[in-house]
Amino acid sequence: MSVIAQKCPHITVNVVDINPSRIADWNNEDLDKLPVFEPGLSDVIAETRGRNLFFSTDIEKGIREAQMIFISVNTPTKTYGIGKGMAADLKYVELCARQIAEVATEDKIVVEKSTLPVRTAQAIRTILTNNSKNIRFSVLSNPEFLAEGTAINDLHFADRILIGSEDDEDGKIAEQKLVDIYANWIPRERIITTRIWSSELSKLTANAFLAQRISSINSISALCEKTGADVDEIASAIGADSRIGSKFLKASVGFGGSCFQKDILNLVYLCRHFELPEVADYWEQVIKMNDYQKYRFSKQIVETLFNTVNGKKITLLGWAFKKDTNDTRESPSMYVAWDLLHEQAEIHVYDPKVSKDQIMKDIEYLLNGNYETEDQKTSILSRITVHSDPYNAMKEAHGIAVTTEWDEFKTYEWKTIYDQMYKPAFIFDGRNVLDAEKMRKIGFSFKGIGK
Ligand code: UGA
Repeated sequence: MSVIAQKCPHITVNVVDINPSRIADWNNEDLDKLPVFEPGLSDVIAETRGRNLFFSTDIEKGIREAQMIFISVNTPTKTYGIGKGMAADLKYVELCARQIAEVATEDKIVVEKSTLPVRTAQAIRTILTNNSKNIRFSVLSNPEFLAEGTAINDLHFADRILIGSEDDEDGKIAEQKLVDIYANWIPRERIITTRIWSSELSKLTANAFLAQRISSINSISALCEKTGADVDEIASAIGADSRIGSKFLKASVGFGGSCFQKDILNLVYLCRHFELPEVADYWEQVIKMNDYQKYRFSKQIVETLFNTVNGKKITLLGWAFKKDTNDTRESPSMYVAWDLLHEQAEIHVYDPKVSKDQIMKDIEYLLNGNYETEDQKTSILSRITVHSDPYNAMKEAHGIAVTTEWDEFKTYEWKTIYDQMYKPAFIFDGRNVLDAEKMRKIGFSFKGIGK
């Protein structure tokens, strides 16, 4: 929304949310305190806030005054009932649709921005039209393809904008209005229009394909470790084939983030619902491979440290699910920490952008989902320490695991770190970001992924 405001000064963008502290943070004078850390975002906010971008908790006013409403609420995986653990929970989307129907006094275009399963637009439309007083609603699907950490650039120079609309005259008029907004900065040929269900399914499919590439290269990383091949060499050799392409072939400790796993589970659920078990199993394997990769990494740490990490200090470098974000949702670091805590390790964490509070919340979230007893919970929480200084985090450690690819990790005084560690000093590079040869020269016992 801030980029739309930036590129379209003639349009007023109101962002409304029920959470007052969140809105207060978006209105904070100090742009370092915005609730989301995203390179370049504060500059866009500085340019637009108060000009044509406004943050408010007055949802009803926001709805009444808008000609176009983007529903951008979260659609987490359901944690209860039918579809538990797989289907998207559409509770918040439905509440939005009901509130729009109740408050609106004139025709509106409603845009699905949240990632939704196929045919949700129809449900939104049904709710809207059955609850309103002769108001016309057009529903569009406009999925977002930005990635965190590069969001502003992805929005400024989008590969494509996708707009799905209903196949009638109203649908086409609404579609054109949204095309006109993006056409302020995106070349027209990059704005793709489709039927609404294709648009919804394209979003799930794009994420499934991207995640599939990571699971594919990660599966090969396991084979490389057994055979002596090097996964990065393989990635560059196959990526040189223009049909395959070089992006998204970086082997890692596993993919994280709020989207890949959730969207694939959603796709799998849809396939099962439509009685396509072979298709469901095919995509589910992408998730299974990712879980295997995370577990394989933790297991390798335990096995290398002479089959026990009990009482040993293991330092995790990175908690965010990727660099240049403070988002920790489904971060592989969290699962590696979880495995090692269960092996009785003392876990020390350093992340340049994630707060201690967030790290403890993430562990508590896992604890709550796993029905540990109070004693077990206390024991686990007492074995995790969060640091604001990376050198303290690694001092007297038995092993270091790099779990996020932050650039600053490459710049550390690794000789000093080595001197202060127990020997043999182990590094497990879950992102292949450190210079293996240099580390070995210093004296580290160094293991990369797929090496
Ligand atoms: C992903 C998609 O890339 C976006 O196009 C999409 O809009 C977004 O989900 C969404 O649905 O909202 P995001 O999760 O922000 O974006 O970040 P990615 O860059 O895709 O990274 C996801 C995970 O895969 C990270 O943990 C990253 O470290 C990992 N990854 C990525 C690898 O392990 N190897 C790679 O080669 C690339």
